[in-house]
Amino acid sequence: MLFVEKITVKFDAFTAVDEVSLRVAPGELVGLAGTNGAGKSTLFAAIAGQMRPCGGRIMFNGADIIRQASHRRAAHGLARTFQVPREFGSLTVLENLLAAAPNEHSESMMAAWLFRRAAARRESHWIRHADAVLDLLGISHIRELPAKGLSGGQKKLIELARILMRKPKIVLLDEPFAGVNPVLIGEIMKALKTLSEQGIALVVVEHHLQALKSLATRLVVMDQGKILAEGNPSEVLESEKVQAAYMGGVV
Ligand SMILES: Nc1ncnc2c1ncn2[C@@H]1O[C@H](COP(=O)(O)OP(=O)(O)O)[C@@H](O)[C@H]1O
Ligand SMILES: [Mg+2]
Repeated sequence: MLFVEKITVKFDAFTAVDEVSLRVAPGELVGLAGTNGAGKSTLFAAIAGQMRPCGGRIMFNGADIIRQASHRRAAHGLARTFQVPREFGSLTVLENLLAAAPNEHSESMMAAWLFRRAAARRESHWIRHADAVLDLLGISHIRELPAKGLSGGQKKLIELARILMRKPKIVLLDEPFAGVNPVLIGEIMKALKTLSEQGIALVVVEHHLQALKSLATRLVVMDQGKILAEGNPSEVLESEKVQAAYMGGVV
């Protein structure tokens, strides 16, 4: 479904991502590990369209998307989260989700006024969808709370929930467990497994290797912009190359 071929991203003379290739199938749960500065977030930015690579190819559902803007990629089902989540603090959790629903009718004020009943039906559809997403992520109890009072971990879940409102095919998650308490980490992991069972592909960046081992079906390790190792999580973690790269690093 996602086919990244020899992507290179440079910042002036510095090569942050160096001819990286990656394939992701529907419903696959891929772990992407690597020490700080390995190029993981930059790779996500290139795939999701926030950064233009200077070489390589990105195919998504058979189409070359390298020139597509990030919002088009998201509309087609390729979404990412950020290391630091962005939510509307003054809105409630439910309102945050509804604000993320796809808006097929951009002049919806007029449409709502003219076709109030149709609009109400549409709204109830999205409220039902929002409730299903909140339920899946185990956060129905915070539905009516303002987003600004939430913990860092809950804000990460809201960001994921907002993405799920658009029914994505693949989600790139950038450090979903960083700064999250262990209980919530367990719940996020459970939710990610459920999503992959539903056919949504996930690529999860995490530098804590053990967390990825229990989650991912395939593990990719980056180091200094390149792919260092790839394959079965246990085998990759035991490989000498990976052990050496992580020596003295954050494991
Ligand atoms: N906007 C930028 N300008 C210049 N250098 C950058 C920029 N973003 C990232 N880098 C550099 O690119 C490398 C990879 O960064 P990043 O993709 O954030 O790594 P990771 O997410 O694996 O920790 C790092 O050396 C970082 O300093
Ligand atoms: Mg990063």
